[in-house]
Amino acid sequence: MVVASEARGTFDFVVAANRLPVDRVTEADGTSRWQASPGGLVTAMDAVMQGQSAAWVGWAGDPGEDVAPFDRDGIRLHPIVLTADEVRGYYEGFSNETLWPLYHDVIVPPRYRRSWWASYQRVNTRFAEAIAKVAAPGATVWIHDYQLQLVPALLRALRSDLRIGWFNHIPFPPVELFGQLPWRRAVLRGLLGADFLGFQRSNDAANFTRACHQLLGTSSSGDTITWSGAEDGLIGAEPRRTRTATVPISIDFRSMDELARTPEVRRRAREIRASLGNPQTVLLGIDRLDYTKGIRHRLRAISELFGDGAIAAPEVTLLQIATPSRERVSAYQDLRSQVDGQVGRINGDHSGIGATAVHYLHHSYPKEEMAALFQAADVLLVTPLRDGMNLVAKEYVASRWDGGGALVLSEFTGAAQELSQAFLCNPHDIAGLKETILAAMREEPASARKRMLAMRRRVRSHDVHAWARHYLSALEAAPQKPNRR
Ligand code: G6P
Repeated sequence: MVVASEARGTFDFVVAANRLPVDRVTEADGTSRWQASPGGLVTAMDAVMQGQSAAWVGWAGDPGEDVAPFDRDGIRLHPIVLTADEVRGYYEGFSNETLWPLYHDVIVPPRYRRSWWASYQRVNTRFAEAIAKVAAPGATVWIHDYQLQLVPALLRALRSDLRIGWFNHIPFPPVELFGQLPWRRAVLRGLLGADFLGFQRSNDAANFTRACHQLLGTSSSGDTITWSGAEDGLIGAEPRRTRTATVPISIDFRSMDELARTPEVRRRAREIRASLGNPQTVLLGIDRLDYTKGIRHRLRAISELFGDGAIAAPEVTLLQIATPSRERVSAYQDLRSQVDGQVGRINGDHSGIGATAVHYLHHSYPKEEMAALFQAADVLLVTPLRDGMNLVAKEYVASRWDGGGALVLSEFTGAAQELSQAFLCNPHDIAGLKETILAAMREEPASARKRMLAMRRRVRSHDVHAWARHYLSALEAAPQKPNRR
């Protein structure tokens, strides 16, 4: 089916993501305004959208009333409205209590609820309809992440003239886990509506291809999956081909590097160290407060290191920053209580007056402060149990223009595939994690510097702009030709 031409829009490039690149901020006097959201995706998309007629379709972040489309920095922002029920069902429920844990190795048990699935289908349909309305004939559409997996096929059914790509920011699980999902075939069919699917690691792309083969009976040759979706009525009767590839996301190296070199950030880094009592070693953790990040395993290792006497405050201190996240979801509330308890216990046992073992802050911070924190840290601890990429590790590397610092990095992150000079660890192995933290602290400065400089070269040459270019050229080259009658 092709929608009538008068229903088509004028934008040649359309991005769709669960969130818009702006947040609505309510002032003290009750008025509201839009503020750019921090984050790599916004920066990457900004660079490719400038100079094009471009639109971004996404949720404005609150349950609420209709917001008319508006322009910002030359980009048309098209808000999707979610009711309070849809925030519960589509966002908190299906996206974050079903898909998120299922795609992250079932670290907590995923919940399968039919009403959440219905809400997910409804909201994905709303996204597809909104994109169909704003996209110009033959436009390129780039859909992001696990919240919008049905959009590719729904959109193709409305607009077969579009070139449609999807990128998965999180892992794609092995079929042995993915197979738990009661709606597993519908999700795969949704994704196969795209011309091109990008993944963070080759294992994610392989897991997806295997799931399609086992659950839908598709065939594949090289990176191209072929299937006939005629029975769904969603995709034309012709066999379709979808290409998959590994396109690991990155950060804006240059802007992070430049920011970290500014006198203000350098001064602030010294100030942070002084406020901590100028310890010999500052260990740092910065994560969204999420059970995938391995914060509890990290605290366990730190607690034992203090207990063993291998480290002691005030010479060594851990600064743990946990950014509030998904606070209405019960697994996140449980995690917060557990982390609060662990930190309290470590400090009760191992702090003294003027000698705090763990400084724990449940806040989010602007980029400038993050850059200063990175500069102030001798060792960054990135210990997720599973993580699609982990951009904090790359931001740390980009901030260390001085070649200082050491990175302890979990093998279960996408970043570990690229940053092989980090101190790699298995966060489940507490004894191994303790040894790795000590090794990172004790590394000779010359070899620590060599590691850091090698990681900087990698992130500099594979930055977010290279990622977006690589993704878009793969999408353009995808085998299936859009239907441009
Ligand atoms: C991960 C996901 C993103 C998501 C972000 C923050 O990075 O891949 O899609 O936007 O977490 O989570 P939130 O639920 O607050 O959007």
